[in-house]
Amino acid sequence: MSTLDLMHSLEQLPFAQAISESTWLFPFFETVHVLALTLVVGSVAMMDLRLLGIGSRDRTITELTRSVLPWTWAAFGIAAICGLLLFSSKAATYYVNIPFRIKIVCLLFAGVNMLVFHFVTARNVAAWDSGRTPSAARVAGVVSLSLWVVIVATGRWIGFTT
Ligand code: HEM
Repeated sequence: MSTLDLMHSLEQLPFAQAISESTWLFPFFETVHVLALTLVVGSVAMMDLRLLGIGSRDRTITELTRSVLPWTWAAFGIAAICGLLLFSSKAATYYVNIPFRIKIVCLLFAGVNMLVFHFVTARNVAAWDSGRTPSAARVAGVVSLSLWVVIVATGRWIGFTT
């Protein structure tokens, strides 16, 4: 069974069919998807701008991470669940869609960039918590901001190419 066959089987599942046939379920989940992703991208941008020394300079990295990251993860969970529900309704169409593929690859890179920052770069955060961040942290900020701009742009582009 090919992946595309698998996508066709996913589309046949009752909840996926309900979303594709309903006049309101898809727009409802897309609305929740958009609201959640604004919180994801907004909270990530706050951290990235701090890493670049542009925003929240009166707060330490640790303090900002502690207050912002729980919102990022909660909103990401909601965005991902709604995204998967939207995806299930036209799985075979989205699976071959180039903007969708670029978006998912960028989401994976954004995840790797975040993990490298938290588990490698930020290990000695105490040394630069309230001061100027090291170049590795600023690079993480620029890479993150760039990836999230592409994720949002390709997310928007999907609707124009399906
Ligand atoms: C937090 C991460 C995510 C962000 C920032 C994001 C961003 C976006 C944006 C900006 C749109 C366009 C919304 C609109 O214009 O109405 C969109 C639509 C969509 N997203 Fe996401 N997304 C994320 C995660 C996901 C995930 C994990 C999936 C599924 C695996 C997904 C699947 C979709 C689908 C299927 C659409 C609908 C496209 C259409 O209009 O036909 N998204 N996303």
